[in-house]
Amino acid sequence: MSFRVIDAIKSADMIVRELLAIKAGEEVVLVADPETDMEMVQAISGISQAAGAECSIVIMPSRPVEESLKMTRFIDKGLEAADVMIGMTRASGAACYSPTVSKLRKEKKLRFLSMVLRDLDIWTKGGATANYHEILEAGKRLQATWSKGTEIHLISKKGTDLTAKIDGAPPFIEAGFANQPGLTAAFSDGEVSQGPVEGSANGLVVVDGPIAHVGLPATPIRLEIKEGKVVRIEGDEKGARQLRDIVENVKDAENFAEIGIGLNPKCRPNGDFEEEKKRLGNVHIAIGRNTGGYGGTIACMVHLDMVIYEATVRTDRDVLLQDGELKV
Ligand SMILES: [Fe+2]
Repeated sequence: MSFRVIDAIKSADMIVRELLAIKAGEEVVLVADPETDMEMVQAISGISQAAGAECSIVIMPSRPVEESLKMTRFIDKGLEAADVMIGMTRASGAACYSPTVSKLRKEKKLRFLSMVLRDLDIWTKGGATANYHEILEAGKRLQATWSKGTEIHLISKKGTDLTAKIDGAPPFIEAGFANQPGLTAAFSDGEVSQGPVEGSANGLVVVDGPIAHVGLPATPIRLEIKEGKVVRIEGDEKGARQLRDIVENVKDAENFAEIGIGLNPKCRPNGDFEEEKKRLGNVHIAIGRNTGGYGGTIACMVHLDMVIYEATVRTDRDVLLQDGELKV
């Protein structure tokens, strides 16, 4: 028997009572897969019950990356009766990226928290231990300055130099809180991000941090972007090959989808993309899906985050980040 559930209780308590503000009588659904650390499921379920909510647990199949939008018909239907969904699938992001979840959120019938692709370690240490009220305040300051811009410029000493238009969908905050119908957040959390105008990104991105589904490349990977699409991937042999494989085999994966700035001072530099993309001062970009908050039309099966260290981010009006240091 494992006792790891003891470490999961503290995070579960904050998630249920503060971040999601789950109330007596609400219906909570936890969506996991066979790779999920079940201590997280047990802890959330127990605390939800203690808060007076009814919690159902569903285990869907482990999905490969190219099927990561697909839940099961049973879950799709069942979510219509839920108030809160917590996506805890580990093999894929299916529990949060599904079109059903986006639709119910848009209609303000559901609020949800993403813990997909995460294990118990990321759930109890580092970014999980931050003060989320402070992160939310930092997020509001960054969002206010960022949203005045109409163009964004991303630069790094390793050669990143990319511009894009940002006068479409506004930047949005993810700071752990999803306490009203229609809201969404992640755990652990802490970032402001934006989907640039579709087709407007041009330049070079040099990725020296961890990448979703690929891991931390031994040497940087260079992505050339033309009119919003990745047209060339070079650099670290193994990582570049894995990325090229995904871009070649998953429809629309070449779409430039997101620029985000991490705000969580407790996140560790541990090579895990979910932890590092939220780390204060780290930038991440993503390719693939840009629907939902990113404001685009491309419902790609993947949304591949990749982290860039010590970058500078400017809008046409303000410096947001200088060499990895937040300026607002
Ligand atoms: Fe992001």
